[in-house]
Amino acid sequence: MASSFSLLTFSLFIILSLSSAIADDDLLIRQVTTEDSSSSSSSPNDLLLNADHHFSLFKSKFNKIYSSKEEHDNRFSIFKANLRRASRHQTLDPSAVHGVTKFSDLTPREFRQKYLGLNGGKRKLKLPSDANKAPVLPTDSLPEDFDWREHGAVTEVKDQGQCGSCWSFSTTGALEGANYLATGKLVSLSEQQLVDCDHECDPEERNSCDSGCNGGLMNNAFEYILKSGGVQREEDYPYTGSDHGTCKFDKSKVAATVANFSVVALDEDQIAANLVKNGPLAVGIHAGYMQTYIGGVSCPLVCLRSLDHGVVLVGYGSAGYAPIRFKEKPYWIIKNSWGPNWGDQGYYKICRGHNVCGVDSMVSTVAAVNIHATQ
Ligand SMILES: *[C@@H]1O[C@H](CO)[C@@H](O)[C@H](O)[C@H]1NC(C)=O
Repeated sequence: MASSFSLLTFSLFIILSLSSAIADDDLLIRQVTTEDSSSSSSSPNDLLLNADHHFSLFKSKFNKIYSSKEEHDNRFSIFKANLRRASRHQTLDPSAVHGVTKFSDLTPREFRQKYLGLNGGKRKLKLPSDANKAPVLPTDSLPEDFDWREHGAVTEVKDQGQCGSCWSFSTTGALEGANYLATGKLVSLSEQQLVDCDHECDPEERNSCDSGCNGGLMNNAFEYILKSGGVQREEDYPYTGSDHGTCKFDKSKVAATVANFSVVALDEDQIAANLVKNGPLAVGIHAGYMQTYIGGVSCPLVCLRSLDHGVVLVGYGSAGYAPIRFKEKPYWIIKNSWGPNWGDQGYYKICRGHNVCGVDSMVSTVAAVNIHATQ
């Protein structure tokens, strides 16, 4: 039922896009044509026609320097393939904007290897058997819109660089929020400590151990923090984006400690209730549409649910930006770790409602110890 509706609206979108000349007193069509004319200068199809020019802009905007002519030409052909991909994504994901991003000279494979890092993307992820299940919370008085950024629980957008350490940023993002709720202080926490020191394994899958730039899992990391006694501040244990260092954890400088953490059921109301009650959540997602994402609400008609990226869920909205009015949809607000010059100022909006790209399927909530009260 739901998928045939999507297909129907999808065909309608195509028809409306093609017939922009007719009946401009129809609100639906007017919205599509307005959208078309405002974004025509940067639509993926237009970019393809002027690929040379846009590659020059891309290189200067993102300070890209290639070591040889061969490398340059190779990157240009990847860039063109990514423009075609962005164009496909735009068609499959009409309520978002897709185009040139700082990752436009990377093949999807390079991108996955360098910028993601959630273990277990290929097989079905099993949650640790001893992971606590979050208690069922009441959902009748949830606010319609909610954003932890407006309540001081979210640090600035960070950048994992060329290291598959997303899992460590997802972990610190959730714990920073929980620590803020427990102590009233927003403290940026160290991902590098997790990258260097956390080699915790999934109790069920011995080959699924946290391994620095080669990936990890947020629940393993919460378990590590519980056992080790805490995490240092970002500034005391700064991020290097490499996992060649040894562990330099100094227990006397702990800035936040996990009290407990639990796994939230695959239920959007429970996810929202846990978010509002406990703070930002650590979530897994399939990042397939994120390499070309520029803005809007991502709501792909087709998206895998194999999880390959760890991010932080910080809020939700009731109705999103959409070129077609009846397709306005509620969305989750996702904090990413690719710097503020990616996406919507470092954030990704993805539609709520049917576990799009697996966003509802690996959700963890954490509580912090009030270390000030116990010291
Ligand atoms: C922590 O444990 C308490 C008591 O068992 C429980 O009520 C709470 O939901 C847990 N919090 C999290 C974030 O797991």
